[in-house]
Amino acid sequence: MKHIIIDCDPGIDDALALLLAAGSPSLRVLAVTTVAGNRPVATTAVNGRKIMDLAGQRQVPVYAGAALPLGYAEARCNLVHGEDGLGGVDVGAASPVQDGHAANRLIELLLEHPPHTIELVATAPLTNLALAESLSPGILRRARRLLIMGGALRFPGNITPAAEFNFYADPIAAGMVLAAGANTVLFPLDVTSSAIMTPAWIDSFHQLGSACGRAAAGMLQAYAELDPLLHDACPVAHLLDETLFTGEPCRVEVDWRPGPTAGHALAWFGEQVGAAHPPNVLAMTAVRNDALLALVRGAIATLP
Ligand code: BDR
Ligand code: CA
Repeated sequence: MKHIIIDCDPGIDDALALLLAAGSPSLRVLAVTTVAGNRPVATTAVNGRKIMDLAGQRQVPVYAGAALPLGYAEARCNLVHGEDGLGGVDVGAASPVQDGHAANRLIELLLEHPPHTIELVATAPLTNLALAESLSPGILRRARRLLIMGGALRFPGNITPAAEFNFYADPIAAGMVLAAGANTVLFPLDVTSSAIMTPAWIDSFHQLGSACGRAAAGMLQAYAELDPLLHDACPVAHLLDETLFTGEPCRVEVDWRPGPTAGHALAWFGEQVGAAHPPNVLAMTAVRNDALLALVRGAIATLP
């Protein structure tokens, strides 16, 4: 049994990541923490709560975290997930979000559990993780691994030519977290651009005849028109079956300077990695997409 925390900004592909985790008995979700990203933090927290309730996981606490990125006066949102972040699909009511700030709760959970036992998945701007590291330096190194969806290494960005959304939305946080010395597995656009949803696969969720199946089909139909990629399910899928992915060690640094390259992930690969540029992440670069889609559908098929 792997103990995991999911820091996210649901967001439709975040919602799929939550459903995948909820439908996987080998994972125990200790908490869901949320941040401003696809939508403002009040919305992402309620969305996280709604999805866990829908999945029959009311016992999993959901915490709201940072409302603003580091160094900016406004959050940068991403409207590909619709005004409500869930594609306008009614996924049911939300029970109350837990009191307490996500960054504080991350620190507490990492201290309460033995070192290197928690898998910390992050599928959103990295503000909560950076705040936790800032409040308690070294805390991220207590995680067994950080599994982060973010960045575009050899691949162009999806928000600007230079930057992927999660790094663009809080470049300072992304740079801090990658520099924290934690055992980090990165899922950049280089790999998630191959995690492609097919129309037949989306349709197949209708056939499940369950509330989660109907919600998944509705949300994915709305999302696939704008971004048919299962970005955020990738790190959770990696926890379930590492053989789905291929990766390579590299060094990644994030351009935090305001301007056209903000959020750019500069990567050193292969022979460029060495004493002067030591590796700081294992970056995933390929995925077996058919097997990924089957894994996600199979897990969601077990949910109510
Ligand atoms: C990332 O941006 C968000 O829109 C998705 O949820 C994903 O985390 C992809 O660039
Ligand atoms: Ca996300």
